Amino acid sequence: MSTVLLLPAAGSGTRLAAGAPKAFVHLAGRPLLAHAVEGAVRSGVIDAIVIAAPSSLLEDARRIAETAAEAPVGSPVGLDGPVDPDGPVDSVRPGDPDVPGAPARPAPVPITVVEGGADRVVSVAAALAAVPQADLVLVHDAARCLTPASVYHRVVAALKAGASAVVPVLPMTDTVKTTTDAGTVVGDLDRTALRRVQTPQGFVREALIAAHGLQRTDPDRSATDDAGLVERLDIAVVGVPGDEAALKITHPIDLRVAELYVSDGHD
Ligand code: CTP
Ligand code: MG
Repeated sequence: MSTVLLLPAAGSGTRLAAGAPKAFVHLAGRPLLAHAVEGAVRSGVIDAIVIAAPSSLLEDARRIAETAAEAPVGSPVGLDGPVDPDGPVDSVRPGDPDVPGAPARPAPVPITVVEGGADRVVSVAAALAAVPQADLVLVHDAARCLTPASVYHRVVAALKAGASAVVPVLPMTDTVKTTTDAGTVVGDLDRTALRRVQTPQGFVREALIAAHGLQRTDPDRSATDDAGLVERLDIAVVGVPGDEAALKITHPIDLRVAELYVSDGHD
């Protein structure tokens, strides 16, 4: 089964306010886009990546992504934490010409860059339209650039086990209440039934195409993610465990938190 990752990276990063579109802002010396592409490639479950980028940065996005996609697969620091420095991954890198018997380096993951749109849904639709052949499509956010490989693995495993739509989820930690527009509390929600939803969200390709087709003809402005669009087709969406390291970098404080994750080996 072939799996394509859509990577919307065309947002402006208004809330981050870091002087550049968010995917091009640096985290630990490299653009978020580079971290995101490298994480996807190192998961080992992605066959191709389609990036939606701002129209003025298409070539920059291609250069950053292609460089990141060629990063060593056997990096000494894995996405799920530090790798044993004495282990074989650190000493023998795939394709290392100086090491007899080193495993062949896998072919680089092909990268396609398309122009994004005015909002995320439009950017995802543009990337989806550029997907060549694929059985499964994962929709991610460049802003969740430190997503561990284990999250990719759980999403793809659930799809291969028969789900049509899969989202990574985490429990709520805050108490949640509903209020009036004026701010008066009118009720409590049962936190145990609520989940925070992350990306990458995974879909059987036809389901995602149908959901975006319906969104084009009958827009639902309340759907804030791709699973929300698919739910309108009465397709069951399966939750798998997400990971706090897959945080969405939104505000300046999130970039600081992401730097801590990188310094702890999540990169
Ligand atoms: N995105 C996109 N096209 C848009 C808007 C958003 O591809 N027109 C992407 C962003 O690049 C990001 C993801 O969707 O990777 C999630 O969006 P968000 O976190 O809101 O990023 P921005 O829109 O860039 O941030 P802000 O809303 O603060 O401007
Ligand atoms: Mg936004």
